Amino acid sequence: MDYRLPTTVVPSRYDIRLTPDLDAARYTGEATVRVEIAEPVTEVVLNAAELAIQSVAARDASGTVVQGSAALDEAQERARLLFPSPLAPGAWQLVLGFTGTLNDKLHGFYRSTYKDPAGVMHTIAATQFEATDARRAFPCWDEPAFKAVFSVTLVVPERLVAISNTAIVSEEPSGDGRKVVRFADTIKMSTYLVAFVVGELEATPPVMVGRTPLRVWAVPGKSHLGRFALDCAAFSLDFFEKYYGVPYPGDKVDLLAIPDFAAGAMENLGAITFRETALLADEASASHAELERVADVVAHELAHMWFGDLVTMSWWNGIWLNEAFATFMEMLAVDAWKKEWERWTNFGVSRAAAMGVDGLLASRPIEFPVREPKECEAMFDLLTYEKGASVLRMLEQYLGSEVFREGVRRYLREHPYANAETTDLWRALGAASGQPIPEAMDGWIFRAGYPLVTVEPDGTGVKLSQRRFLYLGDDAGDGAAGEPWRIPINLRASVKGGWVDKRLLLDGPETHVTLPATPDWALANAGGHGFYRVAFAPSMLKKLARSLGKVAPIERFNVVSDAFAVTQAGHMAAADYLDLTGKLREEGDRNVWTVLAASFTFVNRVIPESARGGLEAFVRHRVGLAAARLGWEAEPGESELVRQLRGDLIRVLGTLGNDEETQAQARALYARYVEDERAADPNILPAVIAIVATVGGPAEYAEFFQRFRSARTPQEEQRFLFALGAFRDPALITQTLERTISGEVRSQDAPFLLRAMLSGVHSRALAWDFVKQHWQTMATQYPGSAYRRMYEGVTALISPEWERDVNEFFTSRGIVLGGKTLDQYLEQLRVAVRFQQREGAALAAYLARTPR
Ligand code: BES
Ligand code: ZN
Repeated sequence: MDYRLPTTVVPSRYDIRLTPDLDAARYTGEATVRVEIAEPVTEVVLNAAELAIQSVAARDASGTVVQGSAALDEAQERARLLFPSPLAPGAWQLVLGFTGTLNDKLHGFYRSTYKDPAGVMHTIAATQFEATDARRAFPCWDEPAFKAVFSVTLVVPERLVAISNTAIVSEEPSGDGRKVVRFADTIKMSTYLVAFVVGELEATPPVMVGRTPLRVWAVPGKSHLGRFALDCAAFSLDFFEKYYGVPYPGDKVDLLAIPDFAAGAMENLGAITFRETALLADEASASHAELERVADVVAHELAHMWFGDLVTMSWWNGIWLNEAFATFMEMLAVDAWKKEWERWTNFGVSRAAAMGVDGLLASRPIEFPVREPKECEAMFDLLTYEKGASVLRMLEQYLGSEVFREGVRRYLREHPYANAETTDLWRALGAASGQPIPEAMDGWIFRAGYPLVTVEPDGTGVKLSQRRFLYLGDDAGDGAAGEPWRIPINLRASVKGGWVDKRLLLDGPETHVTLPATPDWALANAGGHGFYRVAFAPSMLKKLARSLGKVAPIERFNVVSDAFAVTQAGHMAAADYLDLTGKLREEGDRNVWTVLAASFTFVNRVIPESARGGLEAFVRHRVGLAAARLGWEAEPGESELVRQLRGDLIRVLGTLGNDEETQAQARALYARYVEDERAADPNILPAVIAIVATVGGPAEYAEFFQRFRSARTPQEEQRFLFALGAFRDPALITQTLERTISGEVRSQDAPFLLRAMLSGVHSRALAWDFVKQHWQTMATQYPGSAYRRMYEGVTALISPEWERDVNEFFTSRGIVLGGKTLDQYLEQLRVAVRFQQREGAALAAYLARTPR
């Protein structure tokens, strides 16, 4: 089957007029499309889905009109416009009248609802078109290479606000209680970037960035929560104009918080839509992590205005170009905005998450041929975003940041208002750097996986060797062979008490590096930018473990993260890994603690109930010292990162460590918070809420549910919602599970709550039974992207019996999650069960001892 539209008829301009009826959840529309016809046709093929096309006419340059009709093919999501006589080659206008519904599926033109403080329900109409849902709103050539100019008119009730990609050029009453809102022409752009939003929205006063007015929109009463995002956006917009060397391509920027939103945010040119938690926050009461999320998403979407919107991938195989690049630029911008956040160190957590997937046999290359556009739905994953951004960062560090920026500028200058491919970016970077980019990069982009670099003492120096890192490599035949990667190595060796730094390219299976003497240890990924893992000869790891305090936080992070991965893969004993963590009890970096805590959580999921007490004591021993040092009170002048770390440590101690003292303090602090909201530092409050839930009963549950419903900020709502999944009483767990399909929890959130409950050792059995029972309801209620993510939770169902049950569930129901997603989840579960079988007895013995 052919998935691409014919190119005999090519659109250049759409005049779209839509009249939505929010109460009836319907709309009528008219689209006049200017097209160029290359050869005589009696049939014009374009995309349309869930629309009724009532009238079809074609008008040529002389004004001759040919009436036609439309035949819809819902399976192919196409419309064929049929004409009684051939339309001659040349310029034509196609005039289409159609109707559609405002759906509840959070894609296409859809309905989002919210209650005002008085409990009255209100409706917003909003759009989400990426990847292929513009066709659900109006008939169009819904492929990224068919760029066109859009002129939008919205006819809406007087009291509502209408927003689209560009500034309003006129607003006139239509005489029937409605107004006709006309928007300026857009730049030439792809259909997936068009947006309409209609509702009772309220804006912040505009901020001017150069000539561009910037605003944040929210439901009434919430726009004051847009100030933080506005600051970040103002900085980012200016930062990107300077970095790219190209002015912002639109005429205004609106950032819109939509109460129901499937993704995190969407880069519609000039009308960027967000879920509320990714845009709105109260700076005084949000934690560092919550604010960082807002800054990340805002910077990311603004980065797309150039990379994605001005220059767009030619087809969906190139989606990584968009998303990896925006993720990379998001880091650069946030790092420039808030140096003290150490954003690139925190990016280590994302890089490691991508390595978690890319170490699977079921991984995939970042870019691969895409035929069916639906295939690309499953491509919005850690490999596209985080691996993609990691390899761009690796390249940027290798070429030098200014050379890299010059290459990016060249790329944008060469393809404005047009489309480009990965090879075009390589060509521009090659021209700027004088280096052979495809040779260096293709192994990272067009091949799955990444190398494990082994460092061993070798005469006076070290031997470096590479092979593919695989969690299941040994079980699954020879997955380790294959072409070597071209690895930019930053070596830092400890030689005779000093440091020696060397840069080299490891492009064969192994190499010897000569040093002044045999080093005590040598880091092979100094600076931490490389997308590879490092394993050390045991003698070196021992010495390195004693010097960890001297290396950078990102380097410590990588040592721990790599050691744990190597342990999961079976190349290091779990006991040795757990011993290593004993060297980090005084750790002060939040990211290192994130990887430590994640590994303890994994162990907790693997062990039997009988070993739980031992694990809790172990966690208290590992975390207690650092937590006690930070205490419960923020010091004046303390950095935000330290404050956030305090919250993170309290959370681990009070939940995983089951520490009674911490739990008592958390309860007491919560009681004070109820009296006075400023009693707790915002960075520890989310932890306090989570802890109170884990030790709470029906009274706390009722209160938390109430607070979830009456929350004043999206962050507060989110904290209490996820806390509802953290209670341990089975009756309360069941109540929360039922709420995921009752309509009390938004469909944008329920799948993520279920994922968390499938992952918790106290809730997973009940959650899994519930999902098995209600998966069909969930499949129809939840947006597809989130429904897919829910099932990630099955990777925590770690036992041979559960593993069989999970496999049987997916096989017998024929559940398809798109791409390799399901294979990846199942393989992750296999890795965990294998680890349990291999290490179970040793772990039980280890955890039965007094921790040391
Ligand atoms: N283009 C995406 C939104 C998107 C994702 C549309 C998947 C269709 C399918 C947007 O730029 C994006 O990447 N959003 C992220 C947030 C970002 C900060 C990583 C998201 O939605 O999670
Ligand atoms: Zn993006």
